[in-house]
Amino acid sequence: MSIKIRCMMPRDYAAVTHLWRATPGMGLHAADDARAGILRFLRRNPRMSFVAFDGAQLVGAVLCGHDGRRGALHHLAVAQTRRKRGIGAELVARCLAVLARQKIQKCNIFVYRQNTSGQAFWLHTGWAARDDLRVLQKPAAARARPCRAC
Ligand SMILES: CC(C)(COP(=O)(O)OP(=O)(O)OC[C@H]1O[C@@H](n2cnc3c(N)ncnc32)[C@H](O)[C@@H]1OP(=O)(O)O)[C@@H](O)C(=O)NCCC(=O)NCCS
Repeated sequence: MSIKIRCMMPRDYAAVTHLWRATPGMGLHAADDARAGILRFLRRNPRMSFVAFDGAQLVGAVLCGHDGRRGALHHLAVAQTRRKRGIGAELVARCLAVLARQKIQKCNIFVYRQNTSGQAFWLHTGWAARDDLRVLQKPAAARARPCRAC
């Protein structure tokens, strides 16, 4: 098996979403994971997300970005038939390398509590669970109040 990894491009969208949809436990968001949402993410975080190919078949994908302070990975997935061959770890390694090049010190991931297999992967590959933190979330306001200073 010769796996090639490269940056995710807009043209990969269909194959990437096909993989994500075929991956149980992948939480897909109607807007954020629609074509426009993913392309916006790739534009904002250029050359940071990766795909893995076995020949012409897309067999792995991960989204990577940062906010200027912390990195974040989303939607890491490897096709069921290609797992346990180092593809997931290599996709993550590429992301951490580009984050480090951009002086980002740490990277976060969000894993559903019920995804015990996914958590086992992250723990096995050296990620630490932050039991001292909780993720809190709120929808962004639709009516933004303009800032007087900008
Ligand atoms: C998690 C996932 C991406 C791992 O991909 P993969 O290509 O099989 O992982 P790798 O082969 O690179 O594994 C790297 C190491 O982790 C280990 N590993 C892989 N999956 C594991 C799991 N579920 N539990 C524990 N260890 C695991 C491998 O044995 C390997 O260990 P080694 O370096 O000691 O040999 C893949 O199983 C997947 O797509 N799962 C469904 C989606 C998901 O849960 N994504 C993560 C949540 S955001």
